[in-house]
This record gives sequence, C-alpha cells and structure tokens, in this order.
Amino acid sequence: MAQFLFITDLDNTLVGDDHALETLNQRLIRHRETHGTKIVYSTGRSLTSYQNLCTEKQLLPPDALITGVGTAIYHDLDNEPDSTWSELLMENWDRDRAAVIAAQFAELTPQPESEQGRFKASYYLSEADAEQVLPQLKANLHNEGLQFSLIYSGGKDLDILPHNANKGLAMTFLREQWQFGATQTVACGDSGNDRALFDMGDEHGIIVGNAMPELLEWHYDNPSPRRYLAKATYAAGILEGLTHFKFI
Ligand code: GLC
Ligand code: MG
Repeated sequence: MAQFLFITDLDNTLVGDDHALETLNQRLIRHRETHGTKIVYSTGRSLTSYQNLCTEKQLLPPDALITGVGTAIYHDLDNEPDSTWSELLMENWDRDRAAVIAAQFAELTPQPESEQGRFKASYYLSEADAEQVLPQLKANLHNEGLQFSLIYSGGKDLDILPHNANKGLAMTFLREQWQFGATQTVACGDSGNDRALFDMGDEHGIIVGNAMPELLEWHYDNPSPRRYLAKATYAAGILEGLTHFKFI
C-alpha cells in the first residue's frame, strides 16, 4: 500500500450515508497515519457553508479544502486562501460585467449572498429553462469579450467562474504543489461541477452510484478505464472505488 492523494466532493458524494462515512473515515485515518495519504475536500460550498456542514456531520479534518467550485484553496481554515491560486484566477475575470449580463435573464435567480464569491457568481436555473438559457448566456458573455466558465449542476445550480477555475484545475494545482503524480491521485464526485475532476488527465476517478444524470451521461459518452462508476452510493461507493483501484 502506498500514499495517495484523495480528493472528494462533499454533498451527495462523501456525505449522504452517515454509517458508510464513518467506515470510510476509519480507513482513511489509518491510511493517512501509516502512509501519509492526503485528504482534500472539494466542494461547491463557501467556507461558511462548509463550516455549517461540519457541525452536522463527522468529517475528518482535511489536509486542504477547496471551496466555491475550485475558486478558493485553503491550507488551513484560519487563514486566507492560497494567494498564488487567487492571483491566477484574477486573469481576465470581470465578475461585475458577468453579473450585469446574467441579470438580463429573468430565468436566473441569484443564489444567497453567502454563496457568492469574488471569483464566483451563482444562480438558480431550472432544468426546463437551462436548455434555452445556457447557450444564450454563453453567447452574450462571449460577445462582451469576457472569459469565463459556466458550470451547471444538480439540474438547478449555475456557476459563472473565471475561465481557469474549476474543481479539476484546483486539484492539479494542489497535486503539483504537493508533488503527487496523476496516477497517485483519485477524485470522487456525483454531479456536474465534479466533471472537471474526471477530465484532467491520468488521475483516477470514482463516480458514486447515486450520481446525477448530467454526470452519468457525460461518463457514458466519454468512457475511460481510469474512471470507475460504483454500484454503492455515497461513501460506500467511494470505498468500493478505492478498493477497485487498489488504493486501500
Ligand atoms: C453548492 C454551492 C452553490 C453552487 C453549487 C453547484 O451547492 O453552495 O453555490 O452553485 O454547489 O456548484
Ligand atoms: Mg455533490
């Protein structure tokens, strides 16, 4: 058994089945102690919203936390996020102009202030409206000369992010900082904003059995031997995948 870099989404991936979470936690603690495995959470939540989740669920303290769909990387929660990463995201990002364009769409409802960030403008958008609104919004942002990435998740959440921000790029940044090879890395997720975790290179991927159709559809269209679709759900699906890839 060797050390690896473990990156997981929280809602509906690591979190969802308390019993399975406890079992997985025990395995991961032991692996971290014995082999120096590193544990990273990568969530769409803000730091505050992550801290709220910590009061409800038994989460191991991670070695790093990625919040806001890859828009902030915390090495420790009492300090500012990684400034090298934040500086990279400033490149060609104009949040105010993106928000003005988004405001032209009645179908987009801004998410609460707590989920907005310096590098993240987030909205609710129904699945029924998404098909029509997403291409139009994309075109309007482009026509303004803006660089951005649009991420639609869970059939309801739309994030407008800097062009170089997503969960996968944040994973690569940490992986290189810590000098883990791609094949020593495994990422886990369930929904649209996790797709970038599975789309980087040689990293291993685990999709939990309860994944959303938007991610499953992409998975079936882009098969890869490095990506495993678990039968089990939530943390039990993660454990199934880690066993499949012989990480634990
Ligand atoms: C989380 C965040 C939300 C975001 C969603 C999808 O729920 O709180 O702001 O839109 O993830 O990325
Ligand atoms: Mg999720």
